[in-house]
Amino acid sequence: MTDSRLFGKPMITQEAMRRRVKTLGLQIARDYQDKDLLLVGVLKGAFAFFADLCRAIPIPLHVDFLKVARHIDKRRSDGGTIEIVSDITSDIKGQDVLIVEDIVDSGYTLTFLKETIQTRKPKSLKFCTLLDKTERRKVEITADYVGFEVPNKFVVGYGLDYQNKYRNLPYIATLDNVTEE
Ligand code: IMP
Ligand code: MG
Repeated sequence: MTDSRLFGKPMITQEAMRRRVKTLGLQIARDYQDKDLLLVGVLKGAFAFFADLCRAIPIPLHVDFLKVARHIDKRRSDGGTIEIVSDITSDIKGQDVLIVEDIVDSGYTLTFLKETIQTRKPKSLKFCTLLDKTERRKVEITADYVGFEVPNKFVVGYGLDYQNKYRNLPYIATLDNVTEE
């Protein structure tokens, strides 16, 4: 069944994703080979990327997860508020933490996570994102590891959702007629 309303227009194929995740995994393994890596997935969007990425990093590591909620408020200059609604259970003091995100858009979520996690005194703190939508950035911030830069289009699949659906698409697709906040 190929219903374009259900499946959108493919933008990044499974094969391209598989190759990029493998390269990223090896790069991260090289950078962290003498460190104590804690990989933290940001739910829900990063779950598919996280599952593939952690298995592409051939060194021992720890995993944990957190969940953030962003309450958009256009009247505020910072676009709204962000909070951690489900936190990691590990003590990260002295650990080398790598946060794994699905996509960096305005950059508010990444900035919030950077400031919040930094106060817990990890030994190091870096960010990896599958997708980077640089055109929509509102605050200057970049991830340390980026899978793919994507144009200013709403994308779904491989963990990313539109109204909590499409996360199970095995590739990244664009959806037409979706207006972003
Ligand atoms: P930011 O705080 O604006 O950078 O937003 C990041 C979050 O917004 C991501 O972690 C996603 O959950 C969501 N998001 C941004 N752009 C898209 C998109 O194109 N598709 C699906 N989710 C998106
Ligand atoms: Mg997210």
